[in-house]
Amino acid sequence: MIKALAFNSSPRMGKGNTAVILTPFLEGMKEAGAEVELLYTKKLKVNPCQGCFNCWLQTPGKCFQKDDMQMLLPKIREADLLVLATPLYVDGMCAPMKNLLDRMIPLAQPFIELRDGHYRHVVREGHKYAKVVLVSNCGFWEMDNFDSLLVHVKAACKNMGKEFAGALLRPHGAVLGGMVEMGVPLDDILEAAKEAGRQLVRDGNMSSETLATVSRELMPSETYLHTLNELFQQMLDALKK
Ligand SMILES: Cc1cc2nc3c(=O)[nH]c(=O)nc-3n(C[C@H](O)[C@H](O)[C@H](O)COP(=O)(O)O)c2cc1C
Repeated sequence: MIKALAFNSSPRMGKGNTAVILTPFLEGMKEAGAEVELLYTKKLKVNPCQGCFNCWLQTPGKCFQKDDMQMLLPKIREADLLVLATPLYVDGMCAPMKNLLDRMIPLAQPFIELRDGHYRHVVREGHKYAKVVLVSNCGFWEMDNFDSLLVHVKAACKNMGKEFAGALLRPHGAVLGGMVEMGVPLDDILEAAKEAGRQLVRDGNMSSETLATVSRELMPSETYLHTLNELFQQMLDALKK
């Protein structure tokens, strides 16, 4: 059975916009037979990497810090699929997700090898060649807001000896949770997220048509701009009353 481990680093956890896409995606994975575990970084105690390299040179494979990473590293090592779900913060993943990735360096060895034409650290034994899926939501309208995050996650996958399997990206997604609450019809988007989960587990990849539906336009850019600016103005006006 395929083991999937998902991390959601939104501080808004299950109530955030990132979760609106992540939830059906994970459901689809379960439907297709995967064993899925979801963890919120906000509930985890993961201290920042101290950069001491003890995990390479003093206690190989083990970090000296006594926190939730002790429980997480074996799970990460054994996962066939890693789902990294993060809201876009300042054009990248939010800090708890980056913190988590930094703390994965005990999974590598200090030795350097030539892998796919590039020098990389050797992956420690017993570590599965996992696939990585990115799920992200951003506030601005355009799809290109995800460009820098995509470059980063793809590079991190190569760095860590993992396979980047694709991304579920939701631009102008700051209104997504609100639209679901208001009953705006978004069934095609939610169903596409679920279908992407099924495809990933069943076929090992996700179709570009399905991923395009997850990212489809919610409203014209001018309407989005106008709606958000009006809303912000109303909220600020309400402070004066
Ligand atoms: C600190 C911070 C930085 C953000 N930076 C960006 C950004 O660079 N680009 C963008 O499009 N949205 C940005 N956003 C908006 C979030 O990506 C957006 O609100 C998203 O829907 C939050 O997802 P969540 O509800 O799952 O936390 C930022 C939000 C915060 C709080």
